[in-house]
Amino acid sequence: MNDKQDIEIDQALSVAISAAREAGAIQTSYLSKNFKIDRKGEIDLVTEIDLKCERAIIDIIKQTYPDHGALAEEKGAYSPGHEYKWIIDPIDGTTNYAHGFPVYCSSVALEAKGEVIVGAVYDPTRDEMFCAAKGGGATLNGKPISVSDVDDLIDSLLATGFPYTIKTEKINNLKQFGDMSMRAQAIRRPGAAALDLCYVACGRLDGFWEYHLKPWDMAGGVLIVSEAGGKTTACDGGRLDIYNQSLLASNGKIHEPMLEVLALD
Ligand code: IPD
Ligand code: CA
Ligand code: CA
Repeated sequence: MNDKQDIEIDQALSVAISAAREAGAIQTSYLSKNFKIDRKGEIDLVTEIDLKCERAIIDIIKQTYPDHGALAEEKGAYSPGHEYKWIIDPIDGTTNYAHGFPVYCSSVALEAKGEVIVGAVYDPTRDEMFCAAKGGGATLNGKPISVSDVDDLIDSLLATGFPYTIKTEKINNLKQFGDMSMRAQAIRRPGAAALDLCYVACGRLDGFWEYHLKPWDMAGGVLIVSEAGGKTTACDGGRLDIYNQSLLASNGKIHEPMLEVLALD
């Protein structure tokens, strides 16, 4: 326990891990079954498995922390004024999951008094659990991880993503994708932002950016990147605010060059 938190951070982390792992087990168990798929928008899917995972995550959290608040993608917020808020993406990469494309995960984070202190991101397709507690470093399946040391954009493998509102957004990232493609070694669009962040944290990627993310896409992964020695800001270089959509995460060494490319007219 420290003076900023009144809860045991290790206990909160183990709750986050259990919840993320349970969601992953649900994802795996329904993979080859016929599940219901609805649309939140023309290309924005939600499956019945998203809802089952979210319910399971919340049930696990409530067993230990019945009074805490939460912000969950599908059902929204409850106890919004509480100083402890769990930020939940039950399936990050729903489009991939709905198609059976094996890049998706669950993300469970705890924000305490405005600061994310715990994050767990679980990829059931590879049985990979990425997690971090504030000040305790980041791990992958229990082993410490750190960002890459690539220091030149032309040697960098990057990832990005595009919003479901790609057809209507002024900044839809297509120009930035083109600009960055001319400067990096290669760019991927895996389709699960939380995993993209974890891949920056463990050095599989050197940087990641996206413009219209939600807090549940970012919360867990951003802490994991920071605890792995990486850097996170908004895409214009300003302070990162997980409620303000814009995110650039990198190993630190290619952060400035990435900012320069994203600033091109
Ligand atoms: C989406 C994924 C995707 C990103 C989108 C997110 P969802 O989350 O993280 O990679 O590009 O912006 O909305 O809808 O699969 O939870
Ligand atoms: Ca998401
Ligand atoms: Ca989701």
